[in-house]
Formats: sequence, structure tokens, C-alpha cells
Amino acid sequence: MIRVAVIIGSTRPGRNGEAVARWVHDLAVKRGDAEFEIVDLKEIGLPYLDEPMPPAMGRYEHAHTRAWAETIASFDAFVFVTPEYNHSISGALKNAIDFLYAEWNTKAAAFVSYGSAGGVRAVEHLRLIMGELEVADVRAQVSLSLAADFEDFSVFRPAAHQEDAVVAMLDQLVAWAGAMRSLRTSGESGNSGALVDSGALVDYAAASVGDS
Ligand SMILES: Cc1cc2nc3c(=O)[nH]c(=O)nc-3n(C[C@H](O)[C@H](O)[C@H](O)COP(=O)(O)O)c2cc1C
Repeated sequence: MIRVAVIIGSTRPGRNGEAVARWVHDLAVKRGDAEFEIVDLKEIGLPYLDEPMPPAMGRYEHAHTRAWAETIASFDAFVFVTPEYNHSISGALKNAIDFLYAEWNTKAAAFVSYGSAGGVRAVEHLRLIMGELEVADVRAQVSLSLAADFEDFSVFRPAAHQEDAVVAMLDQLVAWAGAMRSLRTSGESGNSGALVDSGALVDYAAASVGDS
């Protein structure tokens, strides 16, 4: 069965992200067409990126990176639950994404965002990041307004229509996750996992390590 991670992209004490992710997860598990698990970056507790080699090399030195890689490798798709911080995603989410490469490749992603403008600017940044990681991001997304979907900007009370938006997003995500899984298992994804073995990347990695 397709496995989907619902990733909580905020680690702040008092964060709104946890309630949003649990709401998405509660709606998702009713579907029965995929398995859904919450992945909480606060619990994962990664440090700032501390791997000497670029993630596309896949040579992870630290146990925390290998554990994170194993977690992400076990999923076919991701729902990123993201706040908007300064018109982008949180530093914690960007850092967690940056740790890995191949484990994200040729999978599918969808976005649930929140903020004063629905967090849509954060999602636009995430879509660019997904492109670099060879993740297929679906169009349907859920945008929650701090004014309309929260009381006092902190108690999550989503408007009724937002449930329909979650359903539409997950319909697309599960379908695309299946398609991407076929592509991955066919061995014909054409993804740049091959870069891992390319001389250019090895040279680049060696130069990066030499710079440190
Ligand atoms: C550092 C920081 C920057 C923020 N910048 C924005 C912003 O640019 N646009 C916006 O709509 N909301 C912004 N907000 C408001 C957050 O979207 C809101 O506080 C949200 O609840 C944060 O997610 P969290 O509670 O899960 O951490 C910002 C909040 C923080 C803490």
C-alpha cells in the first residue's frame, strides 16, 4: 500500500502546525487507500546540517542522518504541513529537507500551509525545492488563513470547506504517488541518482570537503 508521511514543518513551542497536521492525518486515515503517518520534525530533532559530503552522494556519516534517511525512504509520498515564516518555509523544514537527496527522489508531494495569507508564499518556495529533489508536487493544495481558520490566530477551527480541499489534495497525491512508485520500481525514472556516481559530483564533493 502507498505510504504517506504527514510532515510537521514547524518546531516552535506553541506551534499551530501540530493541530493542523493532526487534522490532516485524522481525515486521511479514514480513506483506506493509503497508509498515513505523522512525521514530527520536533521529535526527529536533527541538528543543523552537519554531513561533510553533499547529500546527493548518499554517504551519510552520522547516525541521525541515517535514521532520517531510513524514515523518508520508507514513504512513497509526503504532505508537507508548512507555516509561512518571512514569506518562506521554516528553517527547520528546509534543514530537514537538505539533509537527504535520493530518499526524496521520484516521489510525490502535496502541501498544507497556514499564515496570514494562507501560507501560499511558503508553498511556492517549496515547489521550487521539490523540483530540485525530483519530487512531483500536485496542484491541489490546502491554504489555511490565520484569521478565518483559527480563533485568536492560535486555536485551529478550520472552515468546513477546508475538508473538501484536503480530500481533493489527497485524491491527487495518492494517484501520483502510485504513478511515481511505478516509475521508481521500473528503473526508468531517468532521475539524476546517476549523479551520485558522476565524476563531476565527486570532484565537487571533494572540493567542498577541502574547503572546510
Ligand atoms: C519567524 C516568523 C515569521 C513569520 N512570517 C510570516 C509571514 O511572512 N507571513 C505570514 O503570513 N505569517 C508569518 N508568520 C506568522 C506565522 O505564519 C504563524 O505564526 C504560524 O502560526 C506559524 O506557524 P507555527 O505556529 O506552526 O510555528 C511568521 C511567524 C514567525 C514565527
